[in-house]
Amino acid sequence: MSFTSEQHCERITIPSLQQYKTQGRRITMTTAYDAVSARIADPVVDVILVGDSVGNVCLGLDNTLPVSMAMMNHHLEAVARTRPRALLVADMPFLSFHVSPEETICNAGGFLQRGADAVKLEGGAKRVKMVRALVDCEIPVMGHLGLTPQSVNVMGGFKVQGKSGGDAVGLLDDAHRLQDAGCFALVLEGIPAELAARATESLSIPTIGIGAGPGCSGQVLVFHDVLGLTQDRRPKFVRTYADGFQLLQEALSCWATDVRSGAFPEPQESYRLPEGLTSTVANWKPSRAT
Ligand code: KIV
Repeated sequence: MSFTSEQHCERITIPSLQQYKTQGRRITMTTAYDAVSARIADPVVDVILVGDSVGNVCLGLDNTLPVSMAMMNHHLEAVARTRPRALLVADMPFLSFHVSPEETICNAGGFLQRGADAVKLEGGAKRVKMVRALVDCEIPVMGHLGLTPQSVNVMGGFKVQGKSGGDAVGLLDDAHRLQDAGCFALVLEGIPAELAARATESLSIPTIGIGAGPGCSGQVLVFHDVLGLTQDRRPKFVRTYADGFQLLQEALSCWATDVRSGAFPEPQESYRLPEGLTSTVANWKPSRAT
C-alpha cells in the first residue's frame, strides 16, 4: 500500500496535537461514519471526527438538526470498533448539550464510554458553562466556531461568518473564552482567512480550519467531499481528490454487466459439492405432494 501523505503508527493524543501546533506541523482531520471509512482514513490523518454531518452526508437529511444521540452513538460505535490510532472525536448533536450540565455530561460521557477520545460541540460564549462542566469531568472538548451548521436557522442559511467588525471581534472573544474554559482545540468553519489566522496566532491551543484559509494549525474536510463521493454542489473550500462516485459506479456497473452476460461468477468463484454427493444431488427428484 502506498500513501502520498505521511503515515503514522503511534496513537495520536491530545498532547500530540498541542505539540504539532508548537512544532508548526499542520494537523489533518477528516470525518468517518462507519468502519470502512475509518479504516481508510486512520493510517492517513491525525484526527477522525464522527461528525453530525453524518445526517446530510449519509442519512439523506437536509441539515444536521435532526441528528440524534442514538444516531451518533450508532455511527461512533462502528468507527470505534476499528480501534483507530488517530484521535477519535465525536460530535455532540443539536440539543445534546443545551438543556443541562447533567444531560450534557451523560451524553458526552457516553461517547467516551463508546470509545471516543474527545467530544466536539458548536458555539461560543453561550456554551462555556457546558464546556467547563465537561472539562471538570475529564471529558476533553474541541470547540467549533464560525459557520456552525446547527445554527443554520439563526444565520439564515449556510453563510460565511465574521465579516462585520462586531462579528469578527466577537469570534475572537469566543475563541479565547473557549480556550479559557478548557477546550483543547477549536474548529474554525466558514470565516475569512485573516480572522482565522489572527485567532490561531493569538491562541495557544490549535485551530483546525474548514473554509477558514491556510492560517490555521490544521485542516478538516468531510471524507465524502475529499473523495468525490457526493453529488451535491460543493462549497468553494472543498478540494476533491478523486471522482469516487463515478469510479465506484463504473465498477458496480461492470459487475452488473458480468452478471447479466453470465460472465460472473466463474468456477473459481463458486463452491463445489464433495465428489460422492454429485450424483445424489443430480438424481434427486421432488417428492410428490400429499
Ligand atoms: O460534522 C462535521 O463534519 C463537522 C466538520 C465539518 C468540522 O463538524
